[in-house]
Amino acid sequence: AIDPNFDQNRERVGEEDGVAVWGPVEPPEKLGIHGTHVAVDYDICLADGACLENCPVDVFTWVDTPDHPVSELKVEPTNEDQCIDCMLCVDICPVDAIDVDAS
Ligand code: SF4
Ligand code: F3S
Repeated sequence: AIDPNFDQNRERVGEEDGVAVWGPVEPPEKLGIHGTHVAVDYDICLADGACLENCPVDVFTWVDTPDHPVSELKVEPTNEDQCIDCMLCVDICPVDAIDVDAS
C-alpha cells in the first residue's frame, strides 16, 4: 500500500503535468508517487481504472508508462485541487495505491 506519510519519508524530486513527484524515480522501473493532496503510488498502481471511472469530479487522467514492470498505464491526479475528499478512490483501488489527505 501507499505510504500515507510519503511527504515526510520521501523527497519531492520534480513535477509532471503540474503534479508533484516524490522519489525515488528511476525510469522505467521506478516512477515514485505522483500528487500531494491526492497521491498515487505509480509503483503500486496496476491500471485498474476504478478510481478514474468513479471519481465524481474527474480528478484523474491516464498517462502512458511504457516498460513499467507493473503496468504501462497509470493515473495522474491532474485535477487534485478539485478533490472533494469523498474517499471513493481510496476505498475502491484494489491495491491501495491512492492516498487522499482529507485532514
Ligand atoms: Fe475523486 Fe473522491 Fe478520490 Fe477526491 S477522494 S480524488 S473526489 S474519488
Ligand atoms: Fe491504479 Fe488503483 Fe486507480 S490500480 S488506476 S490507482 S484504482
